[in-house]
Amino acid sequence: MSILKIVEYGSPILRQKSKEVTKISKKIKTLITDMLDTMYHANGVGLAAPQVGENLRIFVIDVSDPDGPINPMVFVNPKIIKKSGAINSYEGCLSFPKAYTNVRRYKNVMVKALDINGRPFIKEARDGELLARAIQHEFDHLEGHMFIDHCRNRFEANEVLAKYNLPAVQEEWLVDEKELEEEIVLWEKEHPKEVEEQRKAQEQ
Ligand code: NI
Repeated sequence: MSILKIVEYGSPILRQKSKEVTKISKKIKTLITDMLDTMYHANGVGLAAPQVGENLRIFVIDVSDPDGPINPMVFVNPKIIKKSGAINSYEGCLSFPKAYTNVRRYKNVMVKALDINGRPFIKEARDGELLARAIQHEFDHLEGHMFIDHCRNRFEANEVLAKYNLPAVQEEWLVDEKELEEEIVLWEKEHPKEVEEQRKAQEQ
């Protein structure tokens, strides 16, 4: 059991595409348990291998209630096999201490991966639940992407990043998500009450 050092935004490691795991060796299993320890220690919901300096296609997630029993999920060589819908997600990342911003995400995702013993499984997450957003967030890390690449407002994102002395949004990494944005805007127009509640929750 070890707590690993978390790589911060600005490090080139976070912009590299990670490699497939070819064998779940003892070393890989240790890395996975260390990643879980590191995630719990940092009170995170998810952590991807590049965030601890390993460009391997592995991430871990636990979206359970912090006061209840733990529910660690391990994803090795994940593939997103279905995605649909659009939602606004207010996100942060362990590699961006304290910086949160609004990003675009798919509402529903289905992911195929291997567990810590190399057994394949399929996980579905729906309705913009935390797990759906966490899967997309962590999967992104394996592609060299980060949540700010999905920011809905780069000026707002840059303001937050500057506040915490983090580098600005990188234009060349921004993801074009016109269709997602249109769907989110439409939803927001039809749900002014929920939008107001989201805003209030963010101010806290
Ligand atoms: Ni992250």
